[in-house]
Amino acid sequence: MGDIASLNPERTMDLSRREALRLGLIGAGGILLPWPGGDSVRADQPCPEGVACLSHDPHELAGPYVPTRISPQIPRFERPFEPLLVRSGQSVATDLDAYKITMQPGSVEIVPGKSTSVWTYDGTMPGPCIRQQKGRGSVVRFVNQLQDAAGIGVSTSIHLHGMASLPQYDGYAEDLIPFDHYKDYYYPNDKAGPFWFHDHAIGHASRNVYMGLAGMYLVDYDHCDFLDPTQAERLPSDAFDIPLLIQDKRLDADGQLIFNDNLQRSLYGDVMLVNGVPWPRLAVKDRKYRFRILNGGTSRVLNLRVMASFEGHFMPLEMVVVASDSGLLPAPVPTATLRMGVAERYEVIIDFTGMAGRQVYLNNPIQAVNCDADLRSTSLLCFDVSSGPADTTPLPESLGRLTPIDRLRSEVRRPVRTFRLDRLGNQWVINNHRWDPRRIEARVGPCATEIWRFINPGGGWVHPLHVHLGHFRLLSRNGVTPPAHEQGMKDTFYVGDFETLDIIGRFGPHEGRYMMHCHNLVHEDHDMMSQFEVGNGGCDPCGAPARPLPEPSSFDEPIGIPDHECSTNDDGRICL
Ligand code: C2O
Ligand code: CU
Repeated sequence: MGDIASLNPERTMDLSRREALRLGLIGAGGILLPWPGGDSVRADQPCPEGVACLSHDPHELAGPYVPTRISPQIPRFERPFEPLLVRSGQSVATDLDAYKITMQPGSVEIVPGKSTSVWTYDGTMPGPCIRQQKGRGSVVRFVNQLQDAAGIGVSTSIHLHGMASLPQYDGYAEDLIPFDHYKDYYYPNDKAGPFWFHDHAIGHASRNVYMGLAGMYLVDYDHCDFLDPTQAERLPSDAFDIPLLIQDKRLDADGQLIFNDNLQRSLYGDVMLVNGVPWPRLAVKDRKYRFRILNGGTSRVLNLRVMASFEGHFMPLEMVVVASDSGLLPAPVPTATLRMGVAERYEVIIDFTGMAGRQVYLNNPIQAVNCDADLRSTSLLCFDVSSGPADTTPLPESLGRLTPIDRLRSEVRRPVRTFRLDRLGNQWVINNHRWDPRRIEARVGPCATEIWRFINPGGGWVHPLHVHLGHFRLLSRNGVTPPAHEQGMKDTFYVGDFETLDIIGRFGPHEGRYMMHCHNLVHEDHDMMSQFEVGNGGCDPCGAPARPLPEPSSFDEPIGIPDHECSTNDDGRICL
């Protein structure tokens, strides 16, 4: 694969850390209008009726779900929206771009006037947004300089969620980068979509992601992704194409993050951040925008809707979904609400035409499944609409090319595989098993097409189930065809209480061991994660171990094409 390019990573960093690309129109921040009837859901309100906030499992002895503490008051819709800092790579070979990202402590301001300690990719929370051209590989050097408040090194592993990476670059939970080590992750970028990278360290992903280790990674669609490439231009782009990374956090009186997973059940924050800013205000023009939305929280399910204010009343605005987790839908799908479990992504169009002079809210009504009576505001983001040039471009009529479901079904050669998602004692399990790196839950033929069934037998909880490597389609939920926006390419599936989902997909192109797990990160850590193996060989997920940093000050190892050779290690050892 071409010649190894030698490049000083410090220089790469300088060149690739371009000026913050102003994707959005920075909020004017001037006028502050109260949200009429806003904050109507107060911290002290009980759960909606019929929602058990007690421990859901009758066999469980642990006490009630007690929200840790209420975060300090933070004014809503005053802080200007901040676009993600977009990074593009440094070309180091004809088909390869290099990036370097350092994991290190940092601080942000969430509570006015207080500095919150966070863990960052390159100093920001969330991390930079990598914007990558499809068809060019990338190598991201993740350097671990992360110590906790006590000065103890934090081990990390990075998963690029949505990418079909080789096993040794997939962020296998046990393939850790210790403090003062680094690892080069190679990504093929052979598929476009709204992906994201986040920590995946065994047993600590929930804490590490919550502390800040998450960022978006967008691979741009090309003409091959569109059924009719001429329609691609009809999607809003550039300044009208804005990533929104939504997370919930909980803070103490000093503004420090509280990580409390409620006896390994779940963690719900009461401060809603969009791109790291609490309840921001975004100035937009009266036209169509495209938002690439990621639920990057820990446990919270979002159920988004858009509400425009009209003389003290609110009118719902439609969202039009154009893409899901891993690619374009076949055609735009209008919807009034968009439910998003943790790690799910949707690209949506919101049309602010006719809204000049008004406020429009991205709203998230209280969700019974979250058990979050202490969430104090149901809106996340306020759009301040002003008038601009008329937007006459119609939405595309068609979007992506998808394999017909019938064709996928005709490729299936074996019975449906079943995965039961349970609570056992005070652990979360898949088919009654906790995570065990030596155990393989399913052996799948190379590039085989299979139907997998996820069963949530009930208990009051939701499992957003994520399968690595593949891109899948949801066939049914409780035997019923899902809504159209859930029928596109996906890698994370909302498995609600008492729900059974069937998904179909091809397992490839790589062989080897890959994880599947609940993406409620607390469930994932304790211990709703297992693995499947594609083929009988493939690369060892621990086959490209992290390397020690030579001397941090003089660190200039070239970033180039990683060694793709597989080492043969089949003893299932734990990687560190
Ligand atoms: Cu987004 Cu295995 O994780
Ligand atoms: Cu779960």
